[in-house]
Amino acid sequence: MKLISVDEIQQGMVLAQNVYTLDDQLVLPKGTMLDPKAIRRLHNYNIFNVFINDDDAKEKTIKSSKKESFGKRLKESREFQDFKRALEKDAKLLETALKKTFTSDEAIKSQSLAAPVLSLFDQNETGAGIMDMIHNLRGYDDAIYMHSISVALISNMIARWMRKSDEEIKMITTAGLVHDIGKIIIPQSILTKTSSLTPRENETLKTHTRLGYQLLKDKDIDPHIKNAVLMHHERNDGSGYPLGLMGEKIVPVARIIAVADIYDDLTSKRANHEPVSPFKVIEAFEADGLIKYDADVILTFLNHIANTFLANKVRLSNNLEGEVIYINPEYLARPTVKCGDSFIDLSRRKDIYITAII
Ligand SMILES: [Fe+2]
Repeated sequence: MKLISVDEIQQGMVLAQNVYTLDDQLVLPKGTMLDPKAIRRLHNYNIFNVFINDDDAKEKTIKSSKKESFGKRLKESREFQDFKRALEKDAKLLETALKKTFTSDEAIKSQSLAAPVLSLFDQNETGAGIMDMIHNLRGYDDAIYMHSISVALISNMIARWMRKSDEEIKMITTAGLVHDIGKIIIPQSILTKTSSLTPRENETLKTHTRLGYQLLKDKDIDPHIKNAVLMHHERNDGSGYPLGLMGEKIVPVARIIAVADIYDDLTSKRANHEPVSPFKVIEAFEADGLIKYDADVILTFLNHIANTFLANKVRLSNNLEGEVIYINPEYLARPTVKCGDSFIDLSRRKDIYITAII
């Protein structure tokens, strides 16, 4: 292994260590073969030095014609496989813990509940690459537990980006884990229904906020967490439920969970909808985010989330495939995409949009 300047990189060299940005986003995983796309990604993220395997660089040069997307390489990395296994295990633990809360008077031990999820960040050295991994974990169709863990992870990332204290980050992560606890009491037939809910079923589903609060209200848990369970569907403009609260009346942790919850719900496969492209969700957030959500939360989220797609391969509505090479800060949902030898600036080509990350 040796440390070299990014300017000295030759195609075919292989990363000996994960490469992270200063704010802990995974840029490229260990084992990545450095092709022009990967090298451009390093430049885009202002990385100056990387550790490479110096022994087999020449041999790899010959094989460097094999091009794989960042997402595919990430999915094949050991780090991602470990993350996926840990997540599946944590989902089972969470299911057991939440059901126990329902059936017994035992208090949720909030610290121990969040511990497995927080350890995912430890294993990933301060949480680097978590967003990349979540984006690559979209095959699950789980109404409560996997969703709760994703919301906990995304909320944790938002809290870090907002520079919250360690204590607050832990509390916010726990709130993410338990935010939908009330769904334990909602009939499975409603949670897993593949067609649209009737107005009555929809009203029943909405009761999960109050039911969750009832379940936790007498337990020895941080009141912010209880309020997050009650208020995570409230919206800044009063259009949410169950109380129609506005702005500051909604506790800060619920304002973070609200953004993480809706982003994860839309971009995941669900019983009643296919995953929506993250860029579509970002576009919707750009359009009405400041009306519905807390300004600090939504702006922090948008500024960070779009950049996690840099150098990802995407499919466009005109069926072309290309690579995201520039995120325009004015139009986060409309980056510049390189398709073959041409560059499509989606902020100018409003007739084309990104349909999927591939
Ligand atoms: Fe919910």
